[in-house]
Amino acid sequence: MLSRQTLRSVSAARHFSSSASRQTKVAVLGAGGGIGQPTSLLLKQNKLVTSLSLYDIRGAPGVAADVSHVDTASEVKGYAADQLDQALDGAEVIVIPAGVPRKPGMTRDDLFNTNASIVRDLATAIGRVAPKAHILVISNPVNSTVPIVASVLENLKVFDPRRLFGVTTLDVVRASRFLAGIAGTDPADTPVTVVGGHSGVTIVPLLSQSAVGKAVNGEAWEKLVYRIQYGGDEVVKAKDGAGSATLSMAYAAAKFTNQLLRALGGEKGVVAPTFVKSPLFETQGVDFFSTNVELGVNGVEKIHPVGPLSAEEEKLIEACLPELKKNIAKGQSFVSSS
Ligand code: NAI
Repeated sequence: MLSRQTLRSVSAARHFSSSASRQTKVAVLGAGGGIGQPTSLLLKQNKLVTSLSLYDIRGAPGVAADVSHVDTASEVKGYAADQLDQALDGAEVIVIPAGVPRKPGMTRDDLFNTNASIVRDLATAIGRVAPKAHILVISNPVNSTVPIVASVLENLKVFDPRRLFGVTTLDVVRASRFLAGIAGTDPADTPVTVVGGHSGVTIVPLLSQSAVGKAVNGEAWEKLVYRIQYGGDEVVKAKDGAGSATLSMAYAAAKFTNQLLRALGGEKGVVAPTFVKSPLFETQGVDFFSTNVELGVNGVEKIHPVGPLSAEEEKLIEACLPELKKNIAKGQSFVSSS
């Protein structure tokens, strides 16, 4: 049996550790969905998350009750359709996988009509309730939904480009896994830089910048680039109408969220690929672009340049820019006309 003295010091230590450590509330909007559920589970296992707020137009209280039984310290709360403001209140990081996924034969742009208004409405609530939150957009088409969030926040006069991120982590995860599969290496030792956007030709893997990747040439290079650009289609086809990548996407979302939380907590030198407001191709009318970004206590700290390109990669960038420009403009004009 513990003495009263011991119990007092345990409770004092607890009190000290909870008041001394950072409190971080993370909200997941679309938490009841294919991506939202496993993302919530993975975030429940993250020690940097102290409070997890799960919102969806359906099913979030059930997911929250389930996830809340996992034996980690964070608190989990679920919010129903009419409780968006409560879900957002005090959130420092907001992850958005809300919206419809692709079916076979669809491009990400085909999702625009449905997902554009979902993302616009969520961004409007964020701008009102949690204007200082870091926003991680997963909902497709990312090339357009990120500019939509930016435009909504600009209209509300609360846009800070350091705090808005399109989640392109899955492209980098795939690139690394596919290249490692060819080279017979461990993906952990096979990083690949991927730049551009998050759909088809806008996804530009820079294999020449990787020690392992630069050995891949000719037809093998073409096949690998295609697989990285269209890897999502493999999942959509295999799921045969039941949706797109959810588990690997949740892994990618949790990975990026963890990188951001580490940086927000003061860790230096955290570099992650993400689709952000970027000056790199602004002169060519492309306001958002994904490259490696150094993250810091305020979000985006430093946008890395694309780095040296091979002649083939120059061509990939040439194909990427006009498509990306079109996707960005589509998002921006959706907000200005609605
Ligand atoms: P899903 O249909 O399984 O789940 C979407 C969830 O969003 C549903 O639970 C739905 O009730 C909810 N939702 C709809 N409207 C909402 C609103 N206004 N507020 C809150 N929640 C709302 O779809 P899944 O598979 O989870 O995909 C979600 C999105 O993520 C899709 O747009 C998909 O294309 C995208 N995605 C993005 C990837 C990336 O790399 N960035 C990779 C894979 C998918």
